[in-house]
Amino acid sequence: MKTVVIGKSGQLAKAFRILNPDYIFLGRADVNVFCRNSIDSTLKSLNVRNIINSSAYTLVDKAEKEIEQAYALNFLAVRNLAEFAALNKIGLVHISSDYVFRGDSVKPIKAYERHQPINVYGLSKSAGENAVFRYPNERACVIRTSWLYSNMSTNFVTKMLALMKTQQTLKVVEDQVGTPTSVWSLARACNIALCKNLNGKTNFTDAGHCSWYEFALKIREFGIKYNILGNAAEIEPILSNKFNSLAKRPKYSVLDKSEIENKFGVVPRHWKEELEIVIKKLTKEDKEL
Ligand SMILES: NC(=O)c1ccc[n+]([C@@H]2O[C@H](COP(=O)([O-])OP(=O)(O)OC[C@H]3O[C@@H](n4cnc5c(N)ncnc54)[C@H](OP(=O)(O)O)[C@@H]3O)[C@@H](O)[C@H]2O)c1
Repeated sequence: MKTVVIGKSGQLAKAFRILNPDYIFLGRADVNVFCRNSIDSTLKSLNVRNIINSSAYTLVDKAEKEIEQAYALNFLAVRNLAEFAALNKIGLVHISSDYVFRGDSVKPIKAYERHQPINVYGLSKSAGENAVFRYPNERACVIRTSWLYSNMSTNFVTKMLALMKTQQTLKVVEDQVGTPTSVWSLARACNIALCKNLNGKTNFTDAGHCSWYEFALKIREFGIKYNILGNAAEIEPILSNKFNSLAKRPKYSVLDKSEIENKFGVVPRHWKEELEIVIKKLTKEDKEL
């Protein structure tokens, strides 16, 4: 019986491909997640035991305009997968986001705190979380994470490194605080969740927290250390209200991980350690991929 990962070209899915080559990876050409018949026929024929849903509409600013598209993938598709999983007694690990919270306190947010999203992406992810639990399934769980990055695909780390190579100065937001999380640690946490039959909602990120500005400074430091950057741009802090972005973002979205740590023994490493590992991987990308 197999574990299937939905959303095969996403950055998290790429980590699973390397860690778990025995999993089956499906993209939009393989299964239409908006159609129950397509899910039924594709997944039944594969004799699936677990589904990891790593597909999502993740363009936070664009979602403000593409509301229907964001809800289609982050809610309707999740509802379809959750219904299929519940009816067929299949495990479901669905990935969600710190952006389901308002983020106006300064205390790490617990797994069961009330959702209060402030942008369309967060609203659609919140609807998706609720859809997972609409159908009783003791093997269904939501793992919420934040500020995901990897040495594969385009993300904050790879974008920053590319910009630092070409610009003199970069302005990076200093008044939004969260926790950068490597896809590698998230994939390992999901695997433990599957083995231990995690159910309900839980938070998983790397340890510690920082602002985007502090994150960018560390990326610069490691970029120089591992010879990815020669002349690196200077990084300057900027307030988010000076930055023209379509979507509002939480000021503080650090997630409390005590549940996954205490109940399941999943102890994350500090984000700085994980970042160094990912930046080292960037220097030997060809061998890895
Ligand atoms: N990125 C972050 O900073 C962040 C933060 C918190 C939580 N998360 C959550 O973490 C999870 C993984 O994120 P990620 O960064 O790995 O995402 P990603 O790289 O943007 O990948 C998402 C994948 O979704 C699939 N997808 C897109 N449109 C689709 C469609 N119409 N039909 C079917 N599949 C479609 C695509 O896979 P195919 O092209 O193979 O179909 C795409 O590669 C998501 O649930 C996301 O919400 C991300």
